[in-house]
Amino acid sequence: MNILLLGSGGREHALAWKLAQSPQLTQLYIAPGNAGTENLGKNLALAADDFPAIKQAVVKYAIDMVVVGPEDPLVKGIVDFFRKDADLAQIPVIGPDASGARLEGSKRFSKQFMMRHNIPTARYRSVTASNIQEGIEFLGSLHAPYVLKADGLAAGKGVLIVETRDQALSELRNMLEGKFGAASQTVVIEEFLSGIECSVFVLTDGKSYRILPEAKDYKRIGEGDTGLNTGGMGAVSPVTFADPNFMQQVEERIIRPTIEGLKSEGIRYKGFIFFGLIRVNDAPYLIEYNARMGDPETEVVMLRLKSDLVELFQAVAEGKLEKQQIETDPRTAVTIMLVSGGYPETYEKGKVIKGIEDIKDSIVFHAGTYRNEGQLLSSGGRVLAISSYGDTRKEALERSLKNARSIHFDKKYFRSDIGFDL
Ligand code: AMP
Ligand code: GLY
Repeated sequence: MNILLLGSGGREHALAWKLAQSPQLTQLYIAPGNAGTENLGKNLALAADDFPAIKQAVVKYAIDMVVVGPEDPLVKGIVDFFRKDADLAQIPVIGPDASGARLEGSKRFSKQFMMRHNIPTARYRSVTASNIQEGIEFLGSLHAPYVLKADGLAAGKGVLIVETRDQALSELRNMLEGKFGAASQTVVIEEFLSGIECSVFVLTDGKSYRILPEAKDYKRIGEGDTGLNTGGMGAVSPVTFADPNFMQQVEERIIRPTIEGLKSEGIRYKGFIFFGLIRVNDAPYLIEYNARMGDPETEVVMLRLKSDLVELFQAVAEGKLEKQQIETDPRTAVTIMLVSGGYPETYEKGKVIKGIEDIKDSIVFHAGTYRNEGQLLSSGGRVLAISSYGDTRKEALERSLKNARSIHFDKKYFRSDIGFDL
């Protein structure tokens, strides 16, 4: 089977790595991909949300299945685009349609969905310019810190957590006045939940679901979870506090009501659901949904998934997921992200990367790289994810750290404390 994978980050390289292990795969195409994915398939120079160009590629390369990595094409309706096109309607796309992708694309929709299905989450109010007074009163009923979220997609930057009520009021006004463009015309104000977070991933065919290995990502730039938020500086799986008792609560209170809720609302969802969870007094609360896998979580989850990913996707497409089992590698996986100095603020690109060829005991996933005249160069803030197995977390971390140190590019930076809080 020929598969087209959309996206260009570490998540997509990890998905490509896993797909390429399947005997079911004939040829993998990645659009646009990066310098890592080109070793596993053929990179196509087209954007993951350029639907007409994707159609051309699907026809030209006789693609049998499309797998969507990032949220953008999903929220923009790639599944609906395929369904409505006579040439494409029979080709399965792994990912929800636009109505399902609202779980990620609209914070207001996702909070309303959680409320309708009694899923534990932070108390909230949804505010626009027309009911700003309600928002001000709600802020008055909360204690610091205050959580403000742009309703729409804002490239991972749309969540503000501020310390004082005055800051919250002024940010609320800024957001409604367009701080994040149209994405913050509606703002969700939330009660702050205090606890430890983890990410749980589910694959669903719309009828049944399978739970993948859980993971924890580390979003802050600095050691000890300090400094600015990033796209993710590393991840670990398994997560020790996500024990059978916790996971049973997650399944009963959060996963099952979500799958049942989608069904009862007539939303046909075939793809990944990412549950961003927080544990408060031993109980799980849902912070957010994403309509895709996490990045950098995928760079550890794929190491621990023993089942054939192409077979799982085929079962999703055919509505036969109930016949599939998830086999998990008992070892621990850790990934460390190598980033460009200055990230997540300004940083330089085009740095020559050296030392990857010599690495034997980690898997190096490319996030922001390209090749030019035989040289490997950086093209983003997040450059490489160094993933390792270990019998313990310490062993996996030390392996990734050793290899993170032996890869070189100008102004390379990474965190050495991934998993420190577990
Ligand atoms: P989100 O994009 O909704 O996942 O928010 C980004 C991050 O902000 C989360 O991963 C949490 O660390 C934090 N966050 C969001 N909502 C809350 C909340 N209600 N209480 C505490 N932290 C939150
Ligand atoms: N690691 C968090 C995300 O992918 O959104």
